[in-house]
Amino acid sequence: MTDTLRLKASPRGLARAATVLQGGGLVAFPTETVYGLGGDASNDRAVARIYEAKGRPSFNPLIVHFSDLATVQAYVHWSDMAQRVADALWPGPLTLVLPLREGARLSKLVTAGLDTLAVRVPANPVARALLRAAGVPVAAPSANRSGRISPTRAAHVLETLDGRIDAVLDGGACDVGLESTILGLAGKPTLLRPGRVTCEQLTDLLGRPVAQRKDSEQISAPGQLGSHYAPSALVRLNAAEWEPDEARLAFGPVESCDLNLSPTGDLVEAAANLFEYLYRLDATGAPRIAVMPVPHVGLGVAINDRLSRAAAPRN
Ligand code: TXA
Ligand code: MG
Repeated sequence: MTDTLRLKASPRGLARAATVLQGGGLVAFPTETVYGLGGDASNDRAVARIYEAKGRPSFNPLIVHFSDLATVQAYVHWSDMAQRVADALWPGPLTLVLPLREGARLSKLVTAGLDTLAVRVPANPVARALLRAAGVPVAAPSANRSGRISPTRAAHVLETLDGRIDAVLDGGACDVGLESTILGLAGKPTLLRPGRVTCEQLTDLLGRPVAQRKDSEQISAPGQLGSHYAPSALVRLNAAEWEPDEARLAFGPVESCDLNLSPTGDLVEAAANLFEYLYRLDATGAPRIAVMPVPHVGLGVAINDRLSRAAAPRN
């Protein structure tokens, strides 16, 4: 348990919240849609703690929040279509999914290994002030325990996250009260989640049809995402011993391995390292990655979900 700081949206409260974010801590903050549970998107451990605090059973990719358009463009490949909707609707309750720039300094856990990134420039003045002061990209899912209702007031955040996060920045009630509209622009324009900004509005702005995904839960499940990352090496789970040609991914105290998710058996550390280590071991060219068992509790459930997807039969 952590003592969750209650911060006012005063200059002092904002400065404190920014410092917490810069230090890898978690801050719930208001946006015009819902309260977000923010953490530094370039910090593996901060992102792992977001999943842990929410108690999410799997690693859904997260939306990264920025204070301005220029900063967004350092992380994604921008396009004319993106420019058109951003000109009209940013800052505001719209998220864009765009191709991730190679070498963008972000935790791989933020995108759950995808090569696209969801980006948003919120309009809420408290959110904007916080993002400017923090100066880091801020990953933020809705600030509620998994499976609970999205919070539109600081008190709602505390109902499910008190003691699990470092601070909540109280900026009053959210205007929209519904998560942002998500527009996919990595391929043909697709509405990935409905919201205040409507499909008709987007179609008008783009001057072309916007495809609709009906079930937003479907696309949000990592296994359903077409481009979802799986290593090219085969993955062998619950390895009790190593075989000769394998890249060896350990968990907990062991004598020999190639990489260790967490030598001390810390699940937050293991989650923070998971995607990065799978990438690194895959890059060695080993035909198979063997992974030691990870306890199926807390964040271990999400880690095992991702590992079993990586190990699932390919076609
Ligand atoms: O209004 C909002 O968008 C709030 C505030 C805090 O900004 N945030 C929010 O985040 O709703 P979250 O994590 O609850 O929802 C993120 C959604 C998920 O459905 C996720 O699958 C989708 O965005 N998403 C994120 N990255 C994606 C990607 N690269 N491709 C497709 N979908 C993505
Ligand atoms: Mg949510």
